[in-house]
Amino acid sequence: MINNTTYRLYGRTKGRKKNKDNYSFLKIKLINIDHTKYNILDIGSGFGESTIKIAKKDKNKIVISCEKYIDGLNSLFKKAQREQLDNIYIYQGNVHQMIDEYCSKNSLSEVWILYPDPWPKKKHFKRRLIDKYFFDKIKTYLKYGATINIASDSKSYISHILRTIYEVKADFLWVNQSKSEWEYDSEILPETKYYKKALENGLKPFYVKLKKL
Ligand SMILES: C[S@@+](CC[C@H](N)C(=O)[O-])C[C@H]1O[C@@H](n2cnc3c(N)ncnc32)[C@H](O)[C@@H]1O
Repeated sequence: MINNTTYRLYGRTKGRKKNKDNYSFLKIKLINIDHTKYNILDIGSGFGESTIKIAKKDKNKIVISCEKYIDGLNSLFKKAQREQLDNIYIYQGNVHQMIDEYCSKNSLSEVWILYPDPWPKKKHFKRRLIDKYFFDKIKTYLKYGATINIASDSKSYISHILRTIYEVKADFLWVNQSKSEWEYDSEILPETKYYKKALENGLKPFYVKLKKL
């Protein structure tokens, strides 16, 4: 059952500065995700560096950017216009709501979750996006062989993610199990704001690639 708390989100929706930009992109809504296409979902896309990089790589693939932070989406919208990318769709809000309202079963080919909010305090762990509930939900929307790409610089969140991967091992294969493969390599993976922050803070991001069985 869907109620007002189902799609509750924590953290910022808008920046502190008054922004004079108009948010015309908000009118861009997903009509329906065409399951015959190669659809990539970028969850919590922040300022959009990842969405842009992925969309530029192959313009025949659709990238759906899902983010609640309006200033970040505004920045993504401007970059997409500048680069003349028309394979990007934007959804402002909670990814759970987007999936429930717009995704059809077996429609997603790739999912990216880069540096999800770590919620480091124990009392806030339940706010974390990635858990067994998330995997159980998203698996029905993934095509066979679809990948989920996750990166984090939070030791506690990484442990939590690894425990969860173990819980869902009947449905997902952990592809990159060797040390050299799980290091976040900036040559191929997007250099997002939070990736750069991690490096500034001397942290080593961890990258996980899963494949739906
Ligand atoms: C720490 S930031 C990382 C942003 C970006 N991926 C990066 O690497 O710079 C996490 C982002 O996820 C967004 N977010 C968190 N939970 C979300 C949800 N359930 N649905 C959509 N976006 C979400 C937040 O608004 C925030 O911008």
